[in-house]
This record gives sequence, structure tokens and C-alpha cells, in this order.
Amino acid sequence: MKIIVVKDDKQGGQAACELFKKELEQKNDAVFGLATGSTPISTYEALVHSNLDFNNSISVNLDEYVGLSSDHPQSYNYYMQEHLFRYKPFRESYLPNGGATDEEREISRYNAILEKNPIDLQLLGIGRNGHIGFNEPGTDFDLKTHKVELTESTIAANARFFNNSQDVPRYAYSMGIGSILKSKKIILEAFGNSKAEAIKNMIEGPVTQECPASVLQRHPNVTVILDEEAAQKLK
Ligand code: F6R
Repeated sequence: MKIIVVKDDKQGGQAACELFKKELEQKNDAVFGLATGSTPISTYEALVHSNLDFNNSISVNLDEYVGLSSDHPQSYNYYMQEHLFRYKPFRESYLPNGGATDEEREISRYNAILEKNPIDLQLLGIGRNGHIGFNEPGTDFDLKTHKVELTESTIAANARFFNNSQDVPRYAYSMGIGSILKSKKIILEAFGNSKAEAIKNMIEGPVTQECPASVLQRHPNVTVILDEEAAQKLK
């Protein structure tokens, strides 16, 4: 793993933006795997203010809440429109459809999209418990897209985006770790004290399902972008 330590999330976003730029220079129809949450916001801001053009590129997002349709303000579809797609449209953009009535069919549809569009560069955040996508501790490393029951700690962490924790959906569709590992390159970003323990476990701990992100030690091309707080527990 290549580790880049920056001063703050703004610099982290700039660093990630540079890697997106490099990817586009090599392949202007690259497939980008995208994440939501607080962490990638500075990256999307940097992309929005850059002169990069994604008109030939494809985006495929990691996850979406089950039960929230794409126009729900807390859905990840909505988040992506607000933070990126309205400013930087892609040729095609895919997210799971949280409003799908047939869940099995939705999972198959998403896996077919991933088969057809192998990810060149995947952007990831990390949960305090080491989750990537919504792959919580204990998740099988081989899984493709699946329906996940969120843990109480993830529901509590995400409650800040909702009126109260009762409103946070209990399930999500998520790319599996098997799908994430197929990406040719991966960037994982983490900012702030609350991520320091997970980062230490991911980089210096054993590869274990208890810290899903630790599986990234097995991937040949991972860049980790950290601020000083998130890096503070590393040796
Ligand atoms: C979001 C995602 C999650 C988040 C993680 C960290 O698409 O897949 O794994 O990256 O929960 O969330 P934040 O960035 O809000 O701390």
C-alpha cells in the first residue's frame, strides 16, 4: 500500500483529484467506482473545481440504502447528483436502486453492470469498525453485490444525516468485497480521529474479516490518503 499523509481533508481531496486526473489521462473512458458519506466530499469539491471532463467516463457507486428511492434527499443517488453529477456529468452513472421492488433482480442487475464495466479506479472511505462499502465486520471476502443488514454502530454513525436514528434505513445494497477487489486501482481516504483505530487495523493488523478493510493488504495497487489525525496510530 502506498500511504500519503496530508494536512487536512482539503489537501486529501486535492491528492485524490490528481489520481483521477492521471487515470483520465491514461484512459478517458475509464470506469470510476465512487463512494458517498462525509469523506469523499472534499474530493468531489476538487473534481468539481477542476477542468476534468467525465463525459466519456462511467461511474459505478458502491452502495445505496434499501427502501430509499433515488429522489429521497438522504439517498446516495441524490447525494451523487448534489455533490458531483450535476456539475460533472458522466457518460453513464450507475447506483443500486434502493426503490427496486424485486431485490434479487436488483442485485443481479447490479452485478451485471459490474461485469460489463470493470472498475479502473475505486474510491473508498472506511467505517469506524473497518467496513468498506457496507461490508460490515464478518462479511465474506468473496461476495459480489449483496443486501446487508447495517450494524447498530453504522446506523448510529449515519443518524447524523437523518432527523433521528429511527429514520435510518436498516438495510443497504452494497458491492461485495469480491467486487471491490476486482478494481484495478483503489484509493482509500480517511480523515479525523474517529478513523485512526480502523486505519491502524487495516494497515498493520492481520487480514481478518473482523476488519473488512484489512483485505486491501492483498490488493496490488492501493493508495491510502490520510490526514494526520487518521494516521496518528500508525507506527
Ligand atoms: C459510502 C460507504 C461507506 C463510507 C463509510 C465512511 O458509500 O461505502 O463505507 O465510506 O461509512 O463514512 P464517512 O465518510 O461518512 O465517515
